[in-house]
Amino acid sequence: MRRRAHVLLLLGFAAACGPGVAEPGAIALERDFADYRAWPSFVLEPVPNDGGLDPVHTADPRVVYINRLPDAGVPEFPVGTLIVKESPFNVFAMGKRGGEYNASGATGWEWFELFRDGASGRVTIEWRGLGPPAGESYGKAGQTCNACHGAFAANDSVMSAPLQVIGR
Ligand code: HEC
Repeated sequence: MRRRAHVLLLLGFAAACGPGVAEPGAIALERDFADYRAWPSFVLEPVPNDGGLDPVHTADPRVVYINRLPDAGVPEFPVGTLIVKESPFNVFAMGKRGGEYNASGATGWEWFELFRDGASGRVTIEWRGLGPPAGESYGKAGQTCNACHGAFAANDSVMSAPLQVIGR
């Protein structure tokens, strides 16, 4: 686990030095998620029969939080954008690092699972990277974060209906 974290970190630095790539501040830290419950948010209704989408992701009430909404007409979510999706069972997130990070999946985005302690409100990162750590999966086999989200390239890999804003 620790070695994996180092590899990702190195990849991050390599990406940060490449052409046209964002400032190092684009690598989200745990504290950047601390007050996500105060960000602009959208409540999504449960979709019990969602035509084959994984129930882990859509069958429950969900709230999506975004640290800053993009300006109208931008071609992608700006580097530094953080989006959190909370359901009764999981808190997932994505952070825009930009450049070639995760270029074979949801280009530019890093995936996270967060944990928000109900009593203290403290938010911690359970894992981060190109997907969940080996051995952890969510819902139907073979469905990775990148598989579903990467297919939404037209909206910069962001799937929530209220966040279909890219190029509009
Ligand atoms: C089976 C398809 C599917 C998989 C696999 C999937 N998601 Fe999603 N995800 C969705 C859908 C659909 C939405 C739109 C919001 C909703 O309806 O819940 C979404 C929304 C999100 C959002 C809010 C931003 C957005 O895109 O709207 C985050 C963050 C997120 N997912 C993280 C993850 C992470 C992390 C993983 C991997 C552990 C993952 N997702 C795997 C389907 C999926």
